[in-house]
Amino acid sequence: MTAKPNEAETEKTSVNRREFLNLAWLASLGFLTINLGGVTYLFSMPRFKEGEFGGVFTVGRVSDLPPAGSPPVNYPKVKLWLSNTEEGLVGLYKVCTHLGCLYNWSDQENKFLCPCHGSEFQANGTYIRGPAPRSLDRFVIQAVDQDSGEVLAQAPLGTPMPLPGNPNAVIQIDTGQRIMGERHA
Ligand code: FES
Repeated sequence: MTAKPNEAETEKTSVNRREFLNLAWLASLGFLTINLGGVTYLFSMPRFKEGEFGGVFTVGRVSDLPPAGSPPVNYPKVKLWLSNTEEGLVGLYKVCTHLGCLYNWSDQENKFLCPCHGSEFQANGTYIRGPAPRSLDRFVIQAVDQDSGEVLAQAPLGTPMPLPGNPNAVIQIDTGQRIMGERHA
């Protein structure tokens, strides 16, 4: 025959259970708080470091740029061709808009040529011919006053950016913001 627990024992068991549930609840709350803090911290961090592909790349000062009409300059690390055209400065994403090959600049032909299927583009990225469905993609570009941080010129839509008069203005290319090249007929 099993002995019935007396009242004191029943009370003790129920207090222990309550204490255990409180502790478990507090532990869960603490765990959740720590996790939420970690996730918030990770999301508040910039996804890309400055100077790497996906982040803002500082090209240099206006006075360091090659003269307008010069051959585009290749920056392979950030997947960029920088083209100082007569209409202004353009930052081109260096992947062909056809099937993703890396195109190159041809000094002889004065245009970009894709080695894979022969698409051709002007120095400003405009489509000339070939299977590519659109012009080259461009990055958002701006010129900033080195001291004040004031934005002196901007091309948020990827159009050629006329250079500001300040030769010390710094050119920044946002390789995280790509504007799709225009489709041709
Ligand atoms: S990938 Fe450039 S033309 Fe096909």
